[in-house]
Amino acid sequence: MRRIIPLFIITVSLFGCESSQQVSQDPLEQKIDSIMSKMSLTEKIGQTAQRGTSSRVKGALSEELKTAVREGRVGSLINVMNKDFVDELQRIAVEESPNGIPLIFARDVIHGFKTIFPIPLGQAATWNPELVEAGARVAAVEASTYGVRWTFAPMLDISRDPRWGRIAESPGEDPFLASELSAAYVKGFQGDDLSDPSSMVACAKHFVGYGAAEGGRDYNTAIIHEPLLRNVYLPPFKKAIEAGVQTFMSGFNELNGVPVSGNQFLLDQVLRQEWAFDGFVVSDWNSVTEMIAHGYCADEKDAAYKAARAGVDMEMTSQSYDKHLQELIDEGKLDVNQLDRMVRAILRVKFRMGLFEQPYRIDNEEVVLSEDHLKKAKDAALQSIVMLKNEEDILPLKTSQKVAVIGPLANAPLDQLGTWIFDGDQDDSVTPLTSLKEKLTANRVKVAAGLDYSRDRSTAQFSSAVNAAKQSDIVLFFAGEEAILSGEAHSRAHINLPGAQEELIKEIRKKTKKPIVLIIQAGRPIVLENILDDVDAVLMAWHPGTMGGPAIVDVLLGDYNPSGRLPVTWPKSVGQVPIYYNYKNTGRPAREESFVGIDDIPIGAWQSSLGNNSHYLDDGFRPQYPFGYGLSYTSFEYDNLKVSEDSLNSNGELKVSFELTNTGVLPGVETVQLYIRDHVGTITRPVKELKKFQRVVLNPKETKTLELTLSSSDLKFYNAENEFVLESGQFSVFVGANAQNTMKKDFWVR
Ligand code: GLC
Repeated sequence: MRRIIPLFIITVSLFGCESSQQVSQDPLEQKIDSIMSKMSLTEKIGQTAQRGTSSRVKGALSEELKTAVREGRVGSLINVMNKDFVDELQRIAVEESPNGIPLIFARDVIHGFKTIFPIPLGQAATWNPELVEAGARVAAVEASTYGVRWTFAPMLDISRDPRWGRIAESPGEDPFLASELSAAYVKGFQGDDLSDPSSMVACAKHFVGYGAAEGGRDYNTAIIHEPLLRNVYLPPFKKAIEAGVQTFMSGFNELNGVPVSGNQFLLDQVLRQEWAFDGFVVSDWNSVTEMIAHGYCADEKDAAYKAARAGVDMEMTSQSYDKHLQELIDEGKLDVNQLDRMVRAILRVKFRMGLFEQPYRIDNEEVVLSEDHLKKAKDAALQSIVMLKNEEDILPLKTSQKVAVIGPLANAPLDQLGTWIFDGDQDDSVTPLTSLKEKLTANRVKVAAGLDYSRDRSTAQFSSAVNAAKQSDIVLFFAGEEAILSGEAHSRAHINLPGAQEELIKEIRKKTKKPIVLIIQAGRPIVLENILDDVDAVLMAWHPGTMGGPAIVDVLLGDYNPSGRLPVTWPKSVGQVPIYYNYKNTGRPAREESFVGIDDIPIGAWQSSLGNNSHYLDDGFRPQYPFGYGLSYTSFEYDNLKVSEDSLNSNGELKVSFELTNTGVLPGVETVQLYIRDHVGTITRPVKELKKFQRVVLNPKETKTLELTLSSSDLKFYNAENEFVLESGQFSVFVGANAQNTMKKDFWVR
């Protein structure tokens, strides 16, 4: 955040004309002043260049790159994953370039470096910011060993569309949960001291609106009116700044007609003027020059101009700044003060990172994949698993049961790691099959994959899978998506289980009648409409990372009571998408009592006799599973919801209390959720908005009285004039286990 810096204006008259130079009293700004005064225009432009290759530098270090670094024409490098190259390039920058300005080495360390944690959507299902922070810390400690001091994470794109491949990297659909996780990631990556060589600068990306890509098609158009932008899409980014994030990344998408990498409203008005962000903004991969394809820029020079003018301080991989900034300044089209501001922001972060004092990486190889790191990864995987169905308590498995291990993800060490793992190694993965063989005696485990990979359409192995099921008491069907079916550029129009997985499940059901437990590993909610009635239990493990196997098996055996809760709404069908919990009521809200399903419509029904409301005749209006949903091996009861008064008190607070009881026979964790509704606003308000949540551990039959405090700022929103306001009127507070199942109390803001 910008600090109030005492500025002394020294006015000197040079050759009869007066010029004034601002001299800061802030020691950091003085260091920047000093180095800036020695830098040539070429060097200044050099700091705005991030060079690199996709995923990793292969072969020898190019002489051209070394020369560019030596001449101070590079500010940062991406994907240099060879320690010797990192050391050599940094040595050249520090010892041979004109002003010895160190490089920042960057990498996508999204959910782990060597020790891979669940994909971010899975980590969001833990609803546990402390656990997410711990995972980010592990990633920073491991990656910095390889010289990586800047990660392009956290990805903070609110996503309401599971067709979008990058929902896997997202914190889900809710701005409050996403904001809590945003702060956790930033604190974890950056640590308590940015100058600590084990810290990594975080990067709030992709600023902004990428998750609203039309149709869930990656890189596509986002149209978001400003109040929605400010109430839903911007909050996680603002929270990242409050947590001290030092960089932002502008995205690929256009927002309301202007590509975000050239969007002055976002990068200057919101980010710099309103939020006083004083770190720097990097573009996404070639997103500056892609503004030509967008039809927003005529050519590379125009792209350089519009990106620099808007506030992109560093250009990732494309080289329009390298080629055209000097020209733009010589022509007077771009003010050199704008370039100085860009370079100051980059140097400010480099100074904060301590790079001028300690530019070289510290080799700390023994921490990589340490026992402690693997334990943290397993904890994250355990807490990310969401139990969606458990008919007749078919789970946990009974000690004597023989299990048939079937399905393409039972032993898929690469796929369980998920998308965006550049440095994770499948050889380090512990798969569910490996764990089952460790925990169960050999005579209890029958293995027959039935399919070799998630897209496999061959039925050649079906009979062996059916036989394995016949010889067992219960089927563990490990289904899902290969890792490559989600992530960047991997949107899907049909989000059922790919390949012949559904057919195999139905074949087993038809031929054996054995109970089936479906364990899904995927990067998105999977539509289960064709098979949900054929399975008795469903676990969603997302892509659970290196320790996904032991985590899944602990849940199957009852050694861990599942506690994950959905961070996204789970649709019945792709036709329901977009579907999310914080929707608007509309003038004709869908209602159970007036809904007539397609099969209940009388033949020859009169046109207007179907309860004219906002729903689908075939798939109704409820999702398969609501936001915040998840089952446990025990059960919880909510009771006695009270509010401290019928309106906000003079301190602008309202105490909300309730009782929570573990009514089952096992200890368990319940994530209690508190939502509000503002019934009447100057713009329409969502039917629910998450405002508080808390993980509560309860022993069997234990009751706790919990109290959560709502403040007036929790009730504020951005109105049509983009003012952050609290409006008087009727409100409701909801407390419960998920967005659909809550107790309710009304109160007033007077
Ligand atoms: C990619 C992604 C971005 C990533 C960057 C560098 O295309 O959009 O999230 O950080 O390029 O790999």
